[in-house]
Amino acid sequence: MAGSSLIGRFFKRIHPESIPWPGSVLYNLISSTVIFQRYYEMVTDDILQYCREGRLLDIGTGPARLLLKIHAKAPQLRLVGIDSSPAMVTKAKENITGVESIEIKEGNAGNIPFPDKCFDIVVSTASIHHWKEPAKGLNEVYRVLKNNGFALIYDLVSDTPQSILDDCRRQFGKLKTTLFWLHSFEEPFYSQENFKALAGSALFKDCRTKFLGLLYCLILQKNSLA
Ligand SMILES: C[S@@+](CC[C@H](N)C(=O)[O-])C[C@H]1O[C@@H](n2cnc3c(N)ncnc32)[C@H](O)[C@@H]1O
Repeated sequence: MAGSSLIGRFFKRIHPESIPWPGSVLYNLISSTVIFQRYYEMVTDDILQYCREGRLLDIGTGPARLLLKIHAKAPQLRLVGIDSSPAMVTKAKENITGVESIEIKEGNAGNIPFPDKCFDIVVSTASIHHWKEPAKGLNEVYRVLKNNGFALIYDLVSDTPQSILDDCRRQFGKLKTTLFWLHSFEEPFYSQENFKALAGSALFKDCRTKFLGLLYCLILQKNSLA
């Protein structure tokens, strides 16, 4: 588990924040596989229940696969992706070639390169477990969100309930699910409890959680009076 035990803290410390080349090339390939594409589709449908117009920021966008799915379903949204890895930014820019309503920029969650209150919604998938300063990152999310705007922060967790793993096995087969599961040992993922506690350490007052398939999600809303 990231962050609480001594071992967890050690792995968190040595785990690289940004994914450098050639990891960017490998991740770009993996993220084009069926299981990833199905997940981007599921996350897109979820996001669109919270916001269908305006400006969306995706933090740790990686190869921008999620943004491409959102664009296909909601071309009216203006989409921005940031990533702290220059190699991922290059991949994302290659992947979005020709799509003018998507902007990609190098940037860190801890210092989001945009002014206050300029996004209607902020999302992030499978990235927060990399952030060295997650509470600072969530406070930056709070800063750039408009009043009443939602932030949806999705990630795998180390204590996924068995029933959810069983569902995933039925949908994608044993091998792919086991690979996902092994991945959660290699990477310092949060437990559900510690993931939720991150929100409590940031400025957000309203935090709910849910599972979307294997992904655990923090649903955060910026106070209307902020
Ligand atoms: C596992 S990838 C996920 C990419 C993408 N969100 C997806 O779901 O396919 C994590 C990404 O987060 C980026 N990242 C890690 N820490 C970051 C930070 N503090 N700020 C911005 N990006 C970060 C990494 O460089 C990497 O591209």
